[in-house]
Amino acid sequence: MGEINPQAPQSTSLFNFFQLKYLLYLLIFCLGASMGSLSTSYFDSLSFNIQNFISTSSSIITSSPSSPPFPAPLPPPPPPRQPEEVVLVSADNATSPNTTCSDNLTTSRVVTLKEEKSIMHNMSDKELLWLASMLPKIRDFPYERVPKVAFMFLTPGSLPLSPLWEMFFKGHEGLYSIYVHAHPSYHYNYPKNSVFYGRAIPSKPLWWGTVSMIDAERRLLANALLDLSNQRFVLLSETCIPLFNFTTIYRYLTNSKLNFLSLYDDRSGVGRGRYRQGMWPPIALEDWRKGSQWFEIDRVLALRIASDKPYYDAFSKFCLPPCYSDEHYLPTLVNILYGESNSNRSVTYVDWSQRGAHPRRFERGQINRESLDRIRFGSECIYNGNNTRMCYLFARKFHPNALEPLLKMAPVLFG
Ligand SMILES: *[C@@H]1O[C@H](CO)[C@@H](O)[C@H](O)[C@H]1NC(C)=O
Ligand SMILES: *[C@@H]1O[C@H](CO)[C@@H](O)[C@H](O)[C@H]1NC(C)=O
Ligand SMILES: *[C@@H]1O[C@H](CO)[C@@H](O)[C@H](O)[C@H]1NC(C)=O
Ligand SMILES: *[C@@H]1O[C@H](CO)[C@@H](O)[C@H](O)[C@H]1NC(C)=O
Ligand SMILES: *[C@@H]1O[C@H](CO)[C@@H](O)[C@H](O)[C@H]1NC(C)=O
Ligand SMILES: *[C@@H]1O[C@H](CO)[C@@H](O)[C@H](O)[C@H]1NC(C)=O
Ligand SMILES: *[C@@H]1O[C@H](CO)[C@@H](O)[C@H](O)[C@H]1NC(C)=O
Repeated sequence: MGEINPQAPQSTSLFNFFQLKYLLYLLIFCLGASMGSLSTSYFDSLSFNIQNFISTSSSIITSSPSSPPFPAPLPPPPPPRQPEEVVLVSADNATSPNTTCSDNLTTSRVVTLKEEKSIMHNMSDKELLWLASMLPKIRDFPYERVPKVAFMFLTPGSLPLSPLWEMFFKGHEGLYSIYVHAHPSYHYNYPKNSVFYGRAIPSKPLWWGTVSMIDAERRLLANALLDLSNQRFVLLSETCIPLFNFTTIYRYLTNSKLNFLSLYDDRSGVGRGRYRQGMWPPIALEDWRKGSQWFEIDRVLALRIASDKPYYDAFSKFCLPPCYSDEHYLPTLVNILYGESNSNRSVTYVDWSQRGAHPRRFERGQINRESLDRIRFGSECIYNGNNTRMCYLFARKFHPNALEPLLKMAPVLFG
């Protein structure tokens, strides 16, 4: 269970909004059978279960053999076995009609990341955000859970530095999930053994500086939220590289007490000057912030962003060029709602030392141990209350021709 194969025509229709109700009925029965307590509020558990089913999460399942079993079931109502519904549940096409959710939750097939075929679906943005906005009311997880980090790539098309990322992720299956938002016309052809295989999410075209950028970020967050194991959410572009090995970055992110989003109060024309009166309420001029769109945030904030309406509405209505939503939306929202839990710094390095509207782009000739170590250890900042020189986990912008020297530097980066 838990895996959706959208290539199977039956299961794609899972996301047909109207068929969702069949799923809900089935889930209710499954809950009756497995949770045992029919008096439990259906809705609390329901949202949890929907997400499990939609989720391509593997760790829910991989961890289940060792996890505490569900409470002993009360006499369960026999689950309905209409063909359509069985197909919905055994979407991994285990083909065994025995494998419905009521049979044996604790001995579910072990699913590895490699088996995840695709996370493609055809929910509309509205449906997706609604589904992603659900929050389990019971805080304790009924199974042992390994937190995952969601790496969300926002790219016009290809990921030219993907070989470096492949090296980065290798051997850490189950600790991360990847989501790629590219232009809808871009055709993916990552091989089956690639970590990027099948990780494209349904996308829409976007225009730099417009609110379509925020739409894409929220789309990525919402898709990643559907996997309950994802606890940290990192936004990356096709020009980004990792600066340390997976273990180091994973620990840094999952142990951090704070979110990482750079933001500041720029009182000039390109800061507060972009504020519009119509945004009040909910946004006052003194709340207005500027910052970088490349964030690293926790699940609470991710959920808030994906389910935001008032701030999103204000931005989509009033933040028109020369107001750029991607420079102000998240910084302003975080400043108003989550200032306390923000480190106010970014973990994505970028070099603005050259004047102009665009940061420096690193090319082939500029990749060496010194330049990389300057990025990796050349600053000072605070991490969980302690001073550290490890301020950046990722860096941008790297030209595709930097790939080869970067691969040669991999032992330095990942050692
Ligand atoms: C799923 O299982 C059915 C029944 O065994 C089979 O006919 C069908 O081809 C399978 N579909 C996929 C995508 O494997
Ligand atoms: C979702 O995809 C299925 C199969 O391709 C299709 O039958 C269905 O109409 C689609 N639903 C929507 C809302 O596009
Ligand atoms: C269902 O379970 C029974 C008993 O465990 C087994 O004999 C049968 O082969 C299973 N059916 C399928 C399709 O796997
Ligand atoms: C259910 O799980 C238990 C515990 O692992 C196992 O012993 C039992 O055989 C399973 N039952 C079925 C029907 O698979
Ligand atoms: C970040 O800024 C907010 C105000 O926006 C402040 O409340 C918070 O303490 C700052 N965080 C750190 C780590 O300084
Ligand atoms: C700071 O570092 C010291 C020594 O490494 C460690 O014992 C301490 O727990 C750290 N403090 C915080 C707040 O992480
Ligand atoms: C990852 O990097 C750290 C230092 O950043 C190093 O101590 C550790 O051995 C590396 N892990 C692996 C598996 O290479």
